[in-house]
Amino acid sequence: DRPSVWVSRPTFDDVIARLAPHCEVDVEPEERKFAPAELAAKLAACDAAIVGLKEHIGAAELAGAKRLRIVANLAVGYDNLDLAALSAAGIAASNTADVLNESVADYAWALLLGAARRMGAAERWLRAGQWHATEFKGWLGTDVRGRTLGILGMGRIGQAIARRAQGFGMPVLYHNRTRLPEATERECRARHVDKDTLLRESDCLVLVLPLTPETRHAIGAAELARMKPSAVLVNVARGGIVDDAALAAALREGRLAAAGLDVFEGEPKVHPELLTLDNVLLSPHIASATTDTRRAMTAVAVDNVLAFFGHGPHAGHPPNLLNPEALAAAGVALPPH
Ligand code: GLV
Ligand code: GLV
Repeated sequence: DRPSVWVSRPTFDDVIARLAPHCEVDVEPEERKFAPAELAAKLAACDAAIVGLKEHIGAAELAGAKRLRIVANLAVGYDNLDLAALSAAGIAASNTADVLNESVADYAWALLLGAARRMGAAERWLRAGQWHATEFKGWLGTDVRGRTLGILGMGRIGQAIARRAQGFGMPVLYHNRTRLPEATERECRARHVDKDTLLRESDCLVLVLPLTPETRHAIGAAELARMKPSAVLVNVARGGIVDDAALAAALREGRLAAAGLDVFEGEPKVHPELLTLDNVLLSPHIASATTDTRRAMTAVAVDNVLAFFGHGPHAGHPPNLLNPEALAAAGVALPPH
C-alpha cells in the first residue's frame, strides 16, 4: 500500500509532485488555520504530514493518529511540534535546517539596516504624500559601520549573520549555550561573551534563538534595561523570545533606539503599541521567504518523507530527523529500504 501524505498548505506543486510515484498526496488547496479537532482529523487520516508553523501538534492532536509515521515541518524552528508527544507515539519529525540559513541571514541584515536607517517610517511618510521639501537634517539614522554586532543564539544562521559583518567592519560578539569551536569563531570573527556583556556592549543585537521554555522572554524589561539606549534590536527568531510589551515601552521611552521585528508574541497578532511606533520596522514572518529558499524548504520536507518510506537518495535515512534517539529508544524501526 502506498503511504498517504497530507500537505497542510499550498507550496510548490512541481516539488510536491516528486512524492507522486511513491505516495498518495492530498494537498490543502488554500492557506488556512485548522481548529485543533480538524487538525486531529487530518492527522488521523494520513501516514505522513507536511505541515507549517501554524499547525500546533501535541498529544491531543495525535490521539487518533494511528497511521501517522512522520511529520515534516516546513520550517527550521519546531516549537509548534511537541517532540516528546510525537516520540512517545512513535512518530518521526523532521525540519528544514540549513537550506534557509543564507536567506534568513540576509533578511536579518535587511531589518537591521532598515531599522537603523528608518526605512519603514520614511516610506510610510513618502506614501502619505508628506514629501514636499528635502530637509538636510531630516530622517537622520544611525550608521552601523564599525559598531559592535551582538548575536544571541549562534547556530548556523547566527554564523551566517556574523560572516556578513566583515563587510560592514563590525566586530562580532555572541552568546550561546555552547561555545563554538575555535576554528568556527575565527572564521566568523566572533568572540564568545556572557549574556550580560552581550547586552551591555552590543550596538546592534540580533536574536536567532530557538523558542523553548528556557528562552521565553530571554529579552524582557531587565535585559532591555542593560542595553545601550542607542542600540538597535533585531528578532528573526520567534515571537515570545522578546517580551513585546516591555520592548514597546523601551522604544517609546527612548531607552532603545530602534528595532526590526519579523516575529511577534501571539502572531499574526502584533502588540498594538508596536504598530503605533515609528522607530520599529515590522514584517510578517518572512525571513526565509524567497522563491529559491521556500522551494528548497519544500524539497527538504519531501526528501525526508520519501527517505522515511525508503525512497530517494537518502532511503531509510531521513536527513533532518529531529527525534532519532527517541524513536530508537521506543523501538520504532524505519521502514527497510
Ligand atoms: C521559520 O520561522 C522557520 O523556523 O523556518
Ligand atoms: C541558545 O542559547 C542556543 O544554544 O541556541
